[in-house]
Amino acid sequence: MKPLRIALTKGRLEKDTIKLLEAAGFDCTSVREKGRKLILPIGGANIEVVLAKAADVITYIENGVCDLGVVGKDTIMENGRSFYEILDLGFGRCRFALAGKAGTDFFSGYDAKTIATKYPNVTRNFFEGKGMDIRIIKIEGSVELAPLLGLSDAIVDIVETGSTLKENGLVIIEDNVAPISARLIANTASLKLRKTEIEELAAKMEEERKKMK
Ligand code: PRP
Repeated sequence: MKPLRIALTKGRLEKDTIKLLEAAGFDCTSVREKGRKLILPIGGANIEVVLAKAADVITYIENGVCDLGVVGKDTIMENGRSFYEILDLGFGRCRFALAGKAGTDFFSGYDAKTIATKYPNVTRNFFEGKGMDIRIIKIEGSVELAPLLGLSDAIVDIVETGSTLKENGLVIIEDNVAPISARLIANTASLKLRKTEIEELAAKMEEERKKMK
């Protein structure tokens, strides 16, 4: 049978997933020594790791070219449509926050505010929930720059330690938008066709996740 393909979000989530897989007994040497390779076999198991950008992990899962994926809840909330979320992996913890320049009152005045974000859908839903009319400007990274440069009144972004906000003179206005962590997701057809393999792998990952807490 062809290998079970698991797409990992390149970077920190990839590293945490590899640690978890190694703790569960899988040989991930090929991933550790990957160089610039993007598809890596896991030693001694019929599993292949695929390394992709967060939103692309979802695209590969939805189109059925990967069976499983590891992606942040933030990416799922922004892009997710049709797949199963089967496990909260517990790492990659952070939260969404609305933040602005210290000393300014975001909610004052009647004009529609401008929000800069990498997450336009999350931002739209958040402000719709408040019944607030806003304008969204999509930024690709270092969103904290937008209010500092005068492009936006505030940002919606993920916050982990809070250092990026602090070091740039920004403060949290609200951070009860949603808790985030890495999730194991599965293609809907794979979950039926390769149920046993997927369940076994997910069970091993869950067991190790519990130990790592
Ligand atoms: C993320 C996020 C914040 C920062 C939050 O950015 O967009 O900028 O991390 O972390 P902190 O609260 O611990 O400071 P990332 O490093 O992914 O880079 P990017 O802004 O270029 O996307």
